[in-house]
Amino acid sequence: MSATVARSFAETPSEGMSRLIPVRDERGNFLTPPLADASERGRWLCAELEQGNILFFSNTPFEFPEEEREFLLGRKQTSAAIHKNIAYRPEEDRVTGLDKSDANEATRLRSILGNYSRRATQFLEKLLPPYAGKCKLDYASFRPIEERGRPARLRARNDLPHVDAFPTRPTNGDRILRLFTNINPDQNRVWITSQTFDVLAPRFAGAIGLPQPQSKTKIARTLRSVARTAGLPGARRSPYDEFMHRCHTAIKEDADFHARCAKQRWEFPPNSTWIVFTDCVSHAVLEGQYALEQTFIVSHRAMVRPEKSPLTVLESIAGYSLKNAD
Ligand code: SIN
Ligand code: FE
Repeated sequence: MSATVARSFAETPSEGMSRLIPVRDERGNFLTPPLADASERGRWLCAELEQGNILFFSNTPFEFPEEEREFLLGRKQTSAAIHKNIAYRPEEDRVTGLDKSDANEATRLRSILGNYSRRATQFLEKLLPPYAGKCKLDYASFRPIEERGRPARLRARNDLPHVDAFPTRPTNGDRILRLFTNINPDQNRVWITSQTFDVLAPRFAGAIGLPQPQSKTKIARTLRSVARTAGLPGARRSPYDEFMHRCHTAIKEDADFHARCAKQRWEFPPNSTWIVFTDCVSHAVLEGQYALEQTFIVSHRAMVRPEKSPLTVLESIAGYSLKNAD
């Protein structure tokens, strides 16, 4: 059952468009306003991210040894082992998505992705003190496939604008923050972004409806607890997660939106790194091959502009809580 919400459109097409925030110059000096200390600067950068802006570093701001990059660039997508994105699970120190791989290749890949994950995490925690200790390390990934013309099912296509939502890793309102690095020595990684979630939410809430809040009756709580203990698929998904996943798909399927939405094109050059909340910035990748990425799930409690978060935006449209009731 869905609550109905009036369909509405953004008042001005440029409302909610992302800005690129260059954080450091070529020599590594901070370009952000002269702020008294790292923690004040961190709050300022978090506020920029939470409003849907993209933090940009023209040079990757942490160590990335040339030999590691060369190894990754040597993995040809025609190789039997490398035919899709490779995921790295930091907590288990495990690589998935590799098959028919030789053991040496898998070990080296795991160690390089582990190094990237660790360095990116240390860097992020220092750059953004409000999130330090309040972020859960999610997967990292290696993206060795050319994105231009990459075949995929409609729902898996990343060249159509969407907001990110992970069906198997619900966040219950916590945020999806991603750090990308273009390791291609010659080719830019090309994205488009459209409006941010706070602007798109009324339209898509109207189109797909908001889920009802979870019931708090004893029987409903018991059933949820049994489902979680049994590990049933979807048992940990809150109404918020249900909506975000349906919204991810609805944006991809909305041809009228793609034709008419405001768009910005971004070219991320070789060796650059960028950070963005991909649950609120609608984005698509059009071109590029060889990128690395680390995902962080940031606690909603760490937000410095909580009123901009998808959870708060949706709850203010719904008028009730969309989190798990227990
Ligand atoms: C995405 O999150 O949609 C893909 C972004 C990328 O691989 O550059
Ligand atoms: Fe995405």
